[in-house]
Amino acid sequence: MTAAAGAERYNAVARTLHWVIALVIIGNIIGGFFHDALEDVVNVMPLHKSLGLTVLALSLVRLGWRVANPAPPLPAHTPPWEKGAAHLTHAVFYILMIGLPMTGWLVSSGSKYPLNWFGLFDVPKFGITPDGAIDGFAHETHEIMGWVAVFLIVLHVGAALRHHFVLKDDVLRRMA
Ligand code: HEM
Ligand code: HEM
Repeated sequence: MTAAAGAERYNAVARTLHWVIALVIIGNIIGGFFHDALEDVVNVMPLHKSLGLTVLALSLVRLGWRVANPAPPLPAHTPPWEKGAAHLTHAVFYILMIGLPMTGWLVSSGSKYPLNWFGLFDVPKFGITPDGAIDGFAHETHEIMGWVAVFLIVLHVGAALRHHFVLKDDVLRRMA
């Protein structure tokens, strides 16, 4: 904690989890939205589900790690509205990192397809009624959360690039 504010970095565990989860989420958003279009070429859904369940497990670990390891403070020159926007974005990301896989798991619980983790073991299904209220809600929420994630990723990446190339501070470097 002796480094100047803004020069401190997220620790290696936080950085690794950030990038692994970010890459898988981006891949799953693409796979999710294009799975119908890709149907004749490849069935992406088994991979989508296994990767998504992995995101759920990693995100729970990450949340625990984050509670135990507070984030380094933003540079002192950051205006309060921007700090608020960053904290809100990050909080919603945590909700999405858990909510997207959970709603996907619910959707898959109501479907006839098997649910397993990379073909290695079966994953239990929730006892919901196919095409019932919970199934419908989970389906809608999964799709809406997908779009919210797209919006926030664009915002978040834009903010990171602005810090690096316009404000020329250490915000991107501390997650790199
Ligand atoms: C990183 C986590 C995840 C992300 C970012 C994600 C994203 C998406 C997106 C964007 C769609 C397209 C939504 C639509 O057009 O309806 C989708 C569809 C779907 N996802 Fe996920 N998903 C994730 C995890 C999961 C998990 C863990 C499961 C199941 C265990 C799952 C099961 C499904 C299913 C079955 C569909 C197809 C819904 C349909 O079109 O009928 N997803 N996902
Ligand atoms: C699905 C994609 C992504 C998700 C869900 C995500 C999520 C997050 C979350 C939750 C944090 C807060 C970390 C914490 O305090 O625990 C964070 C920080 C950060 N992310 Fe991402 N991220 C994604 C993609 C990216 C990309 C592509 C970049 C770079 C271009 C990036 C750059 C950063 C930076 C620089 C920080 C530190 C910002 C700060 O401390 O205020 N992220 N990200």
